[in-house]
Amino acid sequence: MKIAVYPGSFDPITLGHMDIIRRSAKVFDKLVVAVLCNVEKKGLFPIEERVAMISKLVEKYDNIEVVSFQGLLVDFMKTVDAQIIVKGLRVGLDFDYELQMSHMNRKLSDDRVETILMMASTEYSYISSSSVREILHFKGDIRSFVPEEIIQDVLKKSETMEG
Ligand code: PNS
Repeated sequence: MKIAVYPGSFDPITLGHMDIIRRSAKVFDKLVVAVLCNVEKKGLFPIEERVAMISKLVEKYDNIEVVSFQGLLVDFMKTVDAQIIVKGLRVGLDFDYELQMSHMNRKLSDDRVETILMMASTEYSYISSSSVREILHFKGDIRSFVPEEIIQDVLKKSETMEG
């Protein structure tokens, strides 16, 4: 059984992430969406809220699981017995970062873990969680960037968090 892990901070999940989730769930037998902490980024939504929002979006898929993990991605991979990481590639700028991470993760796993890059669909290739967080901060309209089913959750949570 080919199990793939789609890791990210998903803070919050966007239409671009959902595009990669939907498409990779067709390619692999099972997809584990792993909500991990990116130490370089200050989080807006608590990890358990991110997991709850993603779980709501993928409940209709029987081969997708959503979990959170504190620690290295390669250590998480062992816990779910997976050897494939899926990452989305939006623009050229993502490539250098993903290339470096892919080498790091392969080395850290003694060559057990491979990274597969999936090209983002063009209509979502400019969307990022950081832009969504900025739009939320300035009370802008996030409807074109976030899945419709969770927009109210995102708005409600961001209001409570920002006072
Ligand atoms: O959505 P993001 O912020 O681009 O996701 C980055 C993430 C969370 C996948 C990455 O930071 C990560 O794998 N964090 C866990 C710690 C780790 O394993 N780092 C790589 C070793 S250098």
